[in-house]
Amino acid sequence: MARRFKLRPVGESGSESDDETPFIDRREFMRHSFNTAAGVITVASLGSVGFASLLMGQAESSGGDSAVRYWVPTGAEDTVWYGDSHLEPMTYQSFVDAASSSSTGMAAAQGVWSGLPINAIYVPHEENKTAALVENKPRFQFLDGYAVDGGYVGSGYEMDDDSQFEPLRIHDNLIIVFSRCPHLCCIPGWQLVANEFTADQWFPNGTDSGGNKLFCICHSSRFDPTVIEKNRNTNRSDGAQFEYFGIKRTGGPAPVGMPLVPFVLNGDMIEALPDFKDWYAYCD
Ligand code: FES
Repeated sequence: MARRFKLRPVGESGSESDDETPFIDRREFMRHSFNTAAGVITVASLGSVGFASLLMGQAESSGGDSAVRYWVPTGAEDTVWYGDSHLEPMTYQSFVDAASSSSTGMAAAQGVWSGLPINAIYVPHEENKTAALVENKPRFQFLDGYAVDGGYVGSGYEMDDDSQFEPLRIHDNLIIVFSRCPHLCCIPGWQLVANEFTADQWFPNGTDSGGNKLFCICHSSRFDPTVIEKNRNTNRSDGAQFEYFGIKRTGGPAPVGMPLVPFVLNGDMIEALPDFKDWYAYCD
């Protein structure tokens, strides 16, 4: 029998309602996960010891199965700020603390949610959103998205205008991104390698200059996690096209950027929501 995972939307009091709690079917998520040979190979490029156990589901723990957990790539234990937290549930305060030692005030981490690779990115949006739009004053920006043929798809602003996308709206200075590269499905990382695209530096308007990009080590695609756009992607297996809201591709062979994952804060715990799971199937 497939395991079903309880999601816990948080009310004002942090309480949950059993009657209204949605469920995720594990088999649905397995379908979107690392169940292809290409997936296994690309996960290996970031270090995947133990990933198979994730695919089989996690034992219940303090974070529950809707929890977003840190994923520490093998070999990065001593270099990433979350190096001693492998598979621990992500806490919001840990991002705030990590961001305090950054020159941009940003912090991000590799993670996994229900077997799916993600990146969680903290941006000091509230602090900077009314400041001059200058280097190293990062905030989220809603910009126009263009498909791979150059055609206009839509504006990131539409996410705020349409109530069906309410779960995606920016809150708590944080976003979660489904992290499989739309090129050949590797897993882009945050400051896992040192180059001009990963330096702790920010430029406005989604330029390919400056650092703090999600960087795909396979063929060097770059993604700006501070630029939210509407775009269109194609499912690799059936050719079906779909539109999504996500972060902007700024360079490299990836045709487009990567989609957002909605989340809630359950106290200090970061928990993701399955509202747009069809957006995460393009590598299947
Ligand atoms: S798989 Fe990411 S750049 Fe090729």
